[in-house]
Order: sequence, then C-alpha cells, then structure tokens
Amino acid sequence: KIVPVILAGGSGTRLWPISRDSLPKQFLPLSTSGGTLYQDTLQRVAQGEMFAAPIIVTNEEFRFFAQRQARDIGVEPTVVLEPVRRDSAPALLAATLLAQQMHGDEATLLVLAADHVIGDIPLFHEACRKAHGTAKLGHIVTFGITPTEPRTSYGYIRRGAVLNGGAAALVEAFAEKPNAETARDYVEAGYLWNSGNFLFPADVMLEEAESFEPEIVAAVRRAVADATRDLGFCRLGAAFHGAPSLSIDYAVLERTGRAAVVEGSFPWSDVGSWNAVREISAPDESGNVQRGPVRMVDATNSYIHSEGPLVAAIGVEGLSVVATGDAVLIMPSARSEEVKHLVASLKAER
Ligand code: GDD
Ligand code: MG
Repeated sequence: KIVPVILAGGSGTRLWPISRDSLPKQFLPLSTSGGTLYQDTLQRVAQGEMFAAPIIVTNEEFRFFAQRQARDIGVEPTVVLEPVRRDSAPALLAATLLAQQMHGDEATLLVLAADHVIGDIPLFHEACRKAHGTAKLGHIVTFGITPTEPRTSYGYIRRGAVLNGGAAALVEAFAEKPNAETARDYVEAGYLWNSGNFLFPADVMLEEAESFEPEIVAAVRRAVADATRDLGFCRLGAAFHGAPSLSIDYAVLERTGRAAVVEGSFPWSDVGSWNAVREISAPDESGNVQRGPVRMVDATNSYIHSEGPLVAAIGVEGLSVVATGDAVLIMPSARSEEVKHLVASLKAER
C-alpha cells in the first residue's frame, strides 16, 4: 500500500484577510462540499484499497485544526508536529523516516499539499497508479499539469525520455519559481507545471536528500529518533530546530537525476488567489460567488465574501470583496495575485 502524507504546515498570505498566519488556507471551509481543503485532501486518499492510514505533518500551533478536522470526517491520522517552521523539505523527510518505521524501509509515499483542489478523484487515482509503477523503477515521481499561463509561483518541468511504457517521462530539467520572462519561455517550450504532489520510494528520497542536504537529513533523523507520542500526536524532537529551512523543490527536485513526471489529466488548482477561489466555487450563470451575508444586484464575475457585516453591491463587474470583523479587501479580480505584496507591506509597517 501507498502511505499518504499530507503537508499541512504552510501559512499562506494570498487569501488575506480571511487567511492569517494563525489560520492558513488549508483549514478554511473553501470546498464546495462545505468542508476544508485539508478535509478534501484526506478524503482523496481515504477511499479505495490503494492507501494506508495517512500521516499529517504540521506545525505545533495547528495541532487542533489538524486533528479535529480529520475526526469530523471520521479519519484518525497520525499527526506529526514540528516545533518550528522549516519549510517543506524537513517536514517531508520526517514523514519519510516515520513511514519507514511504521511500514518498513521499502515503503512508498504519496506526499500531498494540504491546500489544493483536485476535481476528479478517479482520474487522480489513475495517475497515482501510473506514478506507483514508475516509482518502483526507482524514481521520485511528480504530477505535472499543463500550464494555462506563465505563473511565477510554480515549479516548471521539462520532459525527457519516456518511462514505464509511456505512463511517465524522465524529468530533464526542473526549475522552481522562475522570473516572468523565463516562465513565458517555459510555457512556450511545452514545460509542465509541478503540481507539488509527489510519489516515491522512501529509500530513494532519503538517498537523494542525504547527498544534497546532509545537514537537513541529520537534524531530521535526530528529531525523529527523539519524537514523543501522546493522544494521536507525534512530537518531533528539539533537533528539528537545527534543520535549515528549505522547500523540497529546491532541496531535491531541482537537483536529482531520478525525478520522473506523470502528467495529471485531473482538474487541479492550488487556490492561490481569491479569483481562484471564485473559480473553484461553482460560480452562478453570471460568474458570481457569494459567501456569508451578501447581496448582489446586477453583478457579474464577482466574488463577495463576508464574515462580518452585510455586504451589498450594485452593478459591479469582475470585483473581489472580502470582509472580516477587522479588515475589508476590495480589488479587481484580475489583480488578486497582488494580495501577497499588500500583506507584506502591511506587515512591514507593523
Ligand atoms: N508541515 C509543513 N511544514 N508543511 C509545510 C511547511 C512547513 O514548514 N511549509 C509548507 N508546507 C506545506 C504547505 O502547507 C503546502 O501544503 C505544501 O507544503 C507546499 O508548500 P507551499 O508553500 O504552498 O509551496 P508553493 O506553493 O510555494 O510551491 C509548491 O507548490 C507549487 C504548486 O502549488 C512547489 O512544489 C512548486 O514547485 C509547485 O509548482
Ligand atoms: Mg502552495
């Protein structure tokens, strides 16, 4: 069986003002099912014969969200807690070592971001089967997505030789977060986006990480050896502080020669902006989505979300409005990628 691992310790700022450092987007009820993106991610690997019980890795401060939201949908996961944020590489490697402890050195892991929308679970499972077959050949497999525009917030993949009877391709080059010009070149040249979800044999990942980032692996090994368990939580030891902060994309994917890519034909979104939230929220025939106490008259392609006052709008077009008890955001939907810069400047002033 494949061991699903959900990385749920990131703290985005792109969905400000609802998402805050203390309440990141994976734990917000943004799914059309009424649940959270984290709960949808759990459901995605809860079904079928393919998967073992999931391992969640998150920050100590999110432990109750991670456990309660899982219990609310009848899942009892192992929740691994980091004492400090160190980005995705240390988190993923801790899960890899723990999966080996629980399932043996030969364990295969499926590492999932906690805050993505995947629209078609059977198609996703089909991609997992292709990736599983490819991982057995000794590859770290990522799921690639056909780009729709030159985004700078993604990793890009150039495909090489075909593998596993055409189910996958070797990754010839992997470039994390290029600048705008390079991203345009990549899209033109037929690169894929990296979806940020990975399937790999534990021993292959550890070998590669050990060769590129021995300091991270050493710190994480000690943190796992000193982990303590209680009430469904597994607390990593203090040695975790010693792991340099780095994402798995920079730590391993950009450098390894053993990466492969399976093209995901499932609908995918990493919900990176309020306009992306509108798109995944089944807009009405005028393209509008409303959440909370909202009234729209003659509006088109607009997203209005209130967790505080009644928000009413007349005749607006392509507008996003997000209101909470202490902040209101208003912008053209087309500029919703700029929220992270706004939040950075607000933080700098504080
Ligand atoms: N446990 C834990 N601890 N999880 C973390 C941490 C951490 O310190 N930091 C990030 N994560 C989790 C996030 O919650 C998310 O589920 C996942 O790891 C990816 O981290 P992001 O911070 O969202 O990465 P990104 O969006 O900038 O980039 C990644 O995803 C893109 C697609 O959305 C990369 O893999 C890109 O290459 C990819 O294109
Ligand atoms: Mg992300």
